Amino acid sequence: MNIVPHITAILEAALQAPSGENSQPWKFAVNGNTIELFNDEASDTSLYNYQYRGSYVALGAAIENMCIAAAAGSYDATVTLFPEPGNTVHVASITLAPGIVASPKDAMLYGVITERTSNRKPYTKEALDPAHAAAMIAAVEGLERYGLVYQRVTEREAIGKLAEVGATNEEVMLQNKSLHQFFFSHLTWSKEEDAKKKVGFFIRTLELPLPVRALFKLMAHWPVMVFFIKLGFPAVVRKANAATYASAAEFGILSMPGDTAQDFIWTGRALQRIWLTATAFGIRMQPLTGSIFLHFASAGLPDAFSSQERELILNQIESLYSMLTHKRSVVTCMFRAGYGPLPSARATRYTLEERLI
Ligand SMILES: Cc1cc2nc3c(=O)[nH]c(=O)nc-3n(C[C@H](O)[C@H](O)[C@H](O)COP(=O)(O)O)c2cc1C
Repeated sequence: MNIVPHITAILEAALQAPSGENSQPWKFAVNGNTIELFNDEASDTSLYNYQYRGSYVALGAAIENMCIAAAAGSYDATVTLFPEPGNTVHVASITLAPGIVASPKDAMLYGVITERTSNRKPYTKEALDPAHAAAMIAAVEGLERYGLVYQRVTEREAIGKLAEVGATNEEVMLQNKSLHQFFFSHLTWSKEEDAKKKVGFFIRTLELPLPVRALFKLMAHWPVMVFFIKLGFPAVVRKANAATYASAAEFGILSMPGDTAQDFIWTGRALQRIWLTATAFGIRMQPLTGSIFLHFASAGLPDAFSSQERELILNQIESLYSMLTHKRSVVTCMFRAGYGPLPSARATRYTLEERLI
């Protein structure tokens, strides 16, 4: 397809958005100055993606990248969510019109779109520079009109609790056969394999210590995992990961008034604005959403979990909600942020041709 350069630049920016397990659930069609965005439902069929909520966050982040790229190129982007009533796959129409003047903020955010990455390394506990933290808050100014609340959690005891909420995901994931199989079938073991598959987790991005990486290779086989479950290994992983997650300056909790597709799309847009701003200031980030998304799935599909797994998740969600300042909100995302080393590796992306329809 012949696409004009400014649209290509905008689509290339969309491809760089984050997505659960790097599923990249976006597909695009271009019609003159309008980009149509579709949810590729087949790209993420995991329990984490109950009612495509994870995909909607990713698609929201992709929309935000497109708006930022458009503004940086002096185009105004008008986004219409779900333009065809009843068609939930057609997520947005983005219409571009020339003529606006790019702000320094747009230029700054656009400049770091390819640099932003999930960083799963331990961070230092050094507090964020107040000016950087204020910029992250300012990044989502105006989104409260859609009901978005960005709550910063900086107190150490509360961070410890949220780290446990985050890490309980791994405890459940390693003992639930369906989650285990999804995770290990989406793990790639070499740069070559990752470059070929382009989706899922490249092992080096998980930042596992070498002995744990070797164990993971064994645990990919369910009968071996069953043996490790009997030894209590999932709880050991939870404890180790909770310690890593607690090594952060702070946690961020995003919440919305409801749990509609729009609520998750706005969450993705907000997450991306905060993440790009953090990136511009050398702040590392990692979303920690597993327990939140598993809770949605366990409420909607209780049979997919054992009663012990449901209880583990529920206890952590209660702990999370007990810390909320906005009591009637739905938590749609959580992340940790802080200073630290760069990640060991980056996730691969589909090419634009592979996502055009
Ligand atoms: C909705 C959503 C949920 C995510 N949840 C997690 C998570 O719980 N833990 C994690 O380490 N990364 C999480 N991520 C990050 C993705 O794994 C990551 O974006 C993807 O692998 C691509 O890598 P990149 O962000 O470095 O480009 C999440 C991303 C999105 C959009």
